Amino acid sequence: MTTVLLVIASSSVVLYNSASLEWNQRKRQVHVPINAAEIVHKCNSLNILPGPPKNFHSRSQSDRFQPGTQPTLIKNATLWTGRSEGHEVLSGSLLLDKGIIKAVGNIEQAVIDAYDNLNVIEAHGAWVTPGIVDVHSHIGVDSIPELKGSDDTNSFKGLVLPWLRSLDGLNTHDESYRLSISGGVTTVNVLPGSADAIGGQAFTIKLRSTAERSPSSMVLEPPHNLNGTHIDPSLPPRWRQMKHACGENPSGVYQGTRMDTQWAFREGYNTARQVKDKQDAYCSKALSGDWQDLGEFPDDLQWEALVDVLRGRVKVHNHCYEAVDLDNMVRLTNEFKFSIAAFHHAHETYLVPDLLKKAYGKTPAVALFATNARYKREAYRGSEFAPRILSDHGLQVVMKSDHPVLNSRHVLYEAQQAHYYGLPSNLALASVTSTSATILGYDHRIGYLKEGHDADVAIWDSHPLTLGAAPTQVLIDGIAQLEKPFVVKKPSESQKVPETPNFDEDAKEAVKYDGLPPLEPKKAKAEVVIFNNVSEIFIRKAGKVEAAYMAKEANLRSDSVAVAVHGELVCFGVADECGLAQYGADVQHIDLEGGSISPSLLSYGAPLGLVHIDAEASANDGSAANPLDDDQPKLLGPGSVIRAVDGLLFSSRDALLAYRAGVTTGISAPQTDGFLAGIGAAFGTGLPHRLAHGAVLQQETALHFDLISSKTSVSTQMAALRNLFVASGAKGELADRIERVLWHGVPLVVRVHSADIIATLLELKKEIENKHGTDIKLTIVGGAEAHLLAREIGKAGVGVILIPSRPFPTTWKSKRILPGPPLSQDSAISVLIAHGVIVGLGIEEQWSARHTRFDVGWAALEAGGDLSKSEAIALASVNLEQLLGLRDAVTDLVAVKQGTLFDFEGKVAGIISQQRGLVDMI
Ligand SMILES: *[C@@H]1O[C@H](CO)[C@@H](O)[C@H](O)[C@H]1NC(C)=O
Ligand SMILES: *[C@@H]1O[C@H](CO)[C@@H](O)[C@H](O)[C@H]1NC(C)=O
Ligand SMILES: *[C@@H]1O[C@H](CO)[C@@H](O)[C@H](O)[C@H]1NC(C)=O
Repeated sequence: MTTVLLVIASSSVVLYNSASLEWNQRKRQVHVPINAAEIVHKCNSLNILPGPPKNFHSRSQSDRFQPGTQPTLIKNATLWTGRSEGHEVLSGSLLLDKGIIKAVGNIEQAVIDAYDNLNVIEAHGAWVTPGIVDVHSHIGVDSIPELKGSDDTNSFKGLVLPWLRSLDGLNTHDESYRLSISGGVTTVNVLPGSADAIGGQAFTIKLRSTAERSPSSMVLEPPHNLNGTHIDPSLPPRWRQMKHACGENPSGVYQGTRMDTQWAFREGYNTARQVKDKQDAYCSKALSGDWQDLGEFPDDLQWEALVDVLRGRVKVHNHCYEAVDLDNMVRLTNEFKFSIAAFHHAHETYLVPDLLKKAYGKTPAVALFATNARYKREAYRGSEFAPRILSDHGLQVVMKSDHPVLNSRHVLYEAQQAHYYGLPSNLALASVTSTSATILGYDHRIGYLKEGHDADVAIWDSHPLTLGAAPTQVLIDGIAQLEKPFVVKKPSESQKVPETPNFDEDAKEAVKYDGLPPLEPKKAKAEVVIFNNVSEIFIRKAGKVEAAYMAKEANLRSDSVAVAVHGELVCFGVADECGLAQYGADVQHIDLEGGSISPSLLSYGAPLGLVHIDAEASANDGSAANPLDDDQPKLLGPGSVIRAVDGLLFSSRDALLAYRAGVTTGISAPQTDGFLAGIGAAFGTGLPHRLAHGAVLQQETALHFDLISSKTSVSTQMAALRNLFVASGAKGELADRIERVLWHGVPLVVRVHSADIIATLLELKKEIENKHGTDIKLTIVGGAEAHLLAREIGKAGVGVILIPSRPFPTTWKSKRILPGPPLSQDSAISVLIAHGVIVGLGIEEQWSARHTRFDVGWAALEAGGDLSKSEAIALASVNLEQLLGLRDAVTDLVAVKQGTLFDFEGKVAGIISQQRGLVDMI
């Protein structure tokens, strides 16, 4: 105590003395520091906003130009330039040289003739767009394959860490770079994760590897003083990027509440404001020549980035979902006077557009997923109609990947879906190109096909808003990125923008019901339902799917019908031949407007039907203990086996949305911490509870094991399987379940990706069969590396369910994927089918069950005619039924308006259910 008091007392004496000293000196002379000019310059530049230098647009060469790059002419292209709000489309050529676009459209021959070393790409009229710009990625910091040695996504050292830089963790060996480029992505914004309120600074990078091979050389327009060497102090500053996050993530990581996170924000911003105020006071003195005892410029290395936010020189990217959090952040921007470039994820923004407009400065843009939602509470009200609703309110919308949450190779798919659900095509394409570039502050050089912009270009095999559109070439800084692209021939109708259905009413309902519009189907009023104007019908027959009817000509189509009586399709074809008169007047007519009817689909792979909200234990069935960990609840007794049917939770929004998208059946296995999962169950996705008619299709399907989730060694798990199946070491119920696999044709379903482990399983299968003198049914699920053993798997009569259906090398044991076009000619699907393997397609997360229709359509398009439509439909219907042990085939059919179930033109109008004896209207 005494010491502290002493210190204070003596220092106040010093202060007093020096003050009087100053006063005396000031009267005599003003001491101007030797670095005064530098200080004046610094003070003058403090509030200059970032932007390109004055002469930027007349540059003749990019700062990123790689010497030796050949100039390129892309000829005879359909150029979507991004100008005129994304409405401008030019026919002509694109000339690229010195890393920039030299000319666009109708280029004079003399300009072309001036080059003697031109690489000419004949586009044959193909669509050409600016390279895709992804505003929200963790590529390089959450590297693929995921290894603990390269996980640099989040710092967990505090809620407010504006001094951290994602660049410091940027791994140059992420497998994703090459994959994302093959999806047309050229530039991404690498954000720190969302564990913290202020997680650090983000850096925007180009995906191509550079001659230097360093992370720094990938950065687009690095801030001038990034490495301490201020290149040229007369240049205007460059944009900086920063991550903020509110809501559940920081609360969860720091065991706090929204109140704690918001206080952390205010405390941090207050510190930054104090530094800024000191600087401003200092500079106002310096600039008025009042040098007296000015001392050092007040700065703070930890807070300078946040001070720059307050100076309007940083693009703030705010992970923020719910109205409550958005409101907090809008208040914060007004309290501290800074703007937010974009709210990311932002699942409730479409419900509060006027709130967003109250944010300080420019109204934040909104960076969205198309349909990824409900994985936690704050994502529960996410809507597929958000992009169009927000753009109707005049807000800027961008679609993003959050890579590797979604594989950014397919970030264009997000824009395609936004378009499908109502975002106009010009804005949908802009949402991953020009709007994204604008939000990052780089629209002066990327995101557009404009003279003087960077030579980042994608050439497409079909219109980029059609399903499965893939690049035939991608150039970054004028350098072709695909060495030997494999191009699939797409149908000619895919060269135009899809004619998407009308979702106006659905969008209105989403807002009216505060994000939770009712999704339950309504039974058709009449027992007889006549579908008019049908152009195509597929049906199931003897375990296969076949094309049963086709009316391509418009006149034949408008004369074509399908008649359902009590949910049974009794007649289809030309109206006259169905004798419609016999049904009298009590008939419901549905005009399919040239649409189609096809078998309903089945979803497998995610815990659909067992989970309402992933992150909420109370909204889930939960996870069964790993029996190899030996912490089974004692009351279960030895050899107990969990049944998914006992945990089913009906009417989840994901299940109902799946139903509305033609996925009428789900098969789920119990969730597990590893090894033994238990017995699967087959259920109807559109039903209210387990006791409803048709809700449970089969109480017990296959016996499931999961060799991926377990922490136990692979060889231990193999030893346990051998003990159970070869040595008959099982006890209790498990022994009985194994008997059923051995003798009653119940499939053994094993989740595994690695080719090595699959190979061991094939050996084990032989061992089991030799020991018992029986054949067993084995299904591999996951199967990322299964293509490597396609021949052996085919010979062994083993089936494969690919999950995900488009491969991604998430882990070390799943990294040897076959990426498919344009990186490889074949895909895992085509290779396995070529070897006689029965293939099914599954999903990883239940929100994507509704996409099964697009997964099927995509697989068919990617196979370029090698897979018939019927075979493609089988991948998510009859094949899955067989591989997962469903004894009685599903008989539901899906009626689709306007198009087919498998493209962006059709909209599901009804489900025809023979089993339940009704037609459901969607
Ligand atoms: C452009 O490509 C289309 C499609 O291949 C072709 O029909 C047309 O003749 C080409 N035009 C020119 C000017 O080469
Ligand atoms: C520092 O970064 C700039 C680019 O921002 C670069 O031109 C310069 O070479 C770098 N200096 C060193 C020493 O790496
Ligand atoms: C069939 O659908 C088309 C739209 O695809 C529509 O123009 C036509 O009127 C319909 N015909 C009948 C008979 O309903």
